[in-house]
Amino acid sequence: MMKDPEPIAPKKKKRVTISMTKRILIGALFSITVFLTMWFVWSAFEVPSQRAARIFPSPVPKHDLGKALIVYYSAGGNTAEVAQRISAMTGGTLLELKTRKPYPDAPMLYLRAKLYLSGSKYPELETVSLDFSMYDVIFVGSPVWWRTVSLPVLSFLFESDFGGKTVVPFCTQGGRSGEFFQRFAREAGNAKLVGGKEFSRVSSIDPANLDQTISSWLSEVTEEIARQY
Ligand SMILES: Cc1cc2nc3c(=O)[nH]c(=O)nc-3n(C[C@H](O)[C@H](O)[C@H](O)COP(=O)(O)O)c2cc1C
Repeated sequence: MMKDPEPIAPKKKKRVTISMTKRILIGALFSITVFLTMWFVWSAFEVPSQRAARIFPSPVPKHDLGKALIVYYSAGGNTAEVAQRISAMTGGTLLELKTRKPYPDAPMLYLRAKLYLSGSKYPELETVSLDFSMYDVIFVGSPVWWRTVSLPVLSFLFESDFGGKTVVPFCTQGGRSGEFFQRFAREAGNAKLVGGKEFSRVSSIDPANLDQTISSWLSEVTEEIARQY
């Protein structure tokens, strides 16, 4: 006699239980991902904003270097501040380099700068008419980007014919200038380079100390130029 088949017991559904700690971790991870995505998207469209230069001590030390032009690019305001202080001490004309298409703010700026520096993709600059022959000395200031010259200043150097003019490079940086001055010299073509100077963590230097540093450097530049002629 055949036995009745035994009824198959319905399979018990396994309940997946997630511990409280895991839930908190997943929640935190999700929030961080959303926050970072929003930050990246937002910063991709943000135009870099420069902070204003801080107070100028008075009287400002004066340096006679003849007719000076101070060309600079600045995304965050540090190089702009040094340029403005040089201008106040020398009576020189300021010229800020601007890209036709503005760069995004950090952190996208870091990524873009890295990619474009690797690909030598120099930006187009807003056109300015410049006659170097009107000046005795041309200061050129740039932030350090990935241990070298910033892209807008590379564009400027690439487009310029200094025709043997005295050019004084300076940079601002956060700790390491790397090959900044070597690269600058390679790109500056027929310029006569004098007295490069780097300024580290500008915004954390007391303005009076910053002026003192700039002033002593300008004295050295004046002496170096005098020795050359
Ligand atoms: C894209 C990018 C790359 C940077 N790379 C360096 C670097 O390699 N070494 C360094 O010391 N600082 C680096 N910095 C910091 C800037 O050089 C520093 O903050 C500088 O003073 C900024 O000048 P600015 O305010 O005129 O733009 C970098 C900043 C940016 C935005």
